[in-house]
Amino acid sequence: MEKTDLVCPLSVPNTGMVTFRDIHNPDGPRGLGHLTPITGGVHVPFDIKRIYYIHSVGPDIRRGFHSHRELHQVLIALGGTVKVLVKTPYEETVVELNKPWEGLYIGPYVWREMFDFSQHATLLVLASADYTESDYLRKYEDYEPEAKEYFAK
Ligand code: TYD
Repeated sequence: MEKTDLVCPLSVPNTGMVTFRDIHNPDGPRGLGHLTPITGGVHVPFDIKRIYYIHSVGPDIRRGFHSHRELHQVLIALGGTVKVLVKTPYEETVVELNKPWEGLYIGPYVWREMFDFSQHATLLVLASADYTESDYLRKYEDYEPEAKEYFAK
């Protein structure tokens, strides 16, 4: 991972928290709001090739259930709250995303599941590459042996 200094590591390898700038002026007119700039390769540790967002997720829905072999991503709850389980064959943790200026970095070979989307939650995903189905590991039984080999290096 390049620019590791941007990412505050979590207990799961290839994951970490990224804090962006939250530009607001509390002395300005009421309701002026907040602004967060994100530049690929500067504020996240990869060039941003693609973005997508997930919204209108039902209360009992869990999605994700995959890992990527090469993709780097940062997940940001632009509104509402979303929980994300990140795991390897050896470690796991749950992160609650609830601030638009906070991102969860997820690198290669990390299994992820997103759940407990609050009503109106919108999850923005910044990704380092085009959508490539062959980069996905969608079955845990396929993921586990490849990830064990990857993290054994
Ligand atoms: P998927 O990555 O499986 O979503 P999640 O892990 O959040 O459940 O993608 C869901 C569907 O959307 C799947 O059919 C692939 C498609 N998709 C694209 O066509 N382009 C994209 O950039 C992404 C992320 C998904």
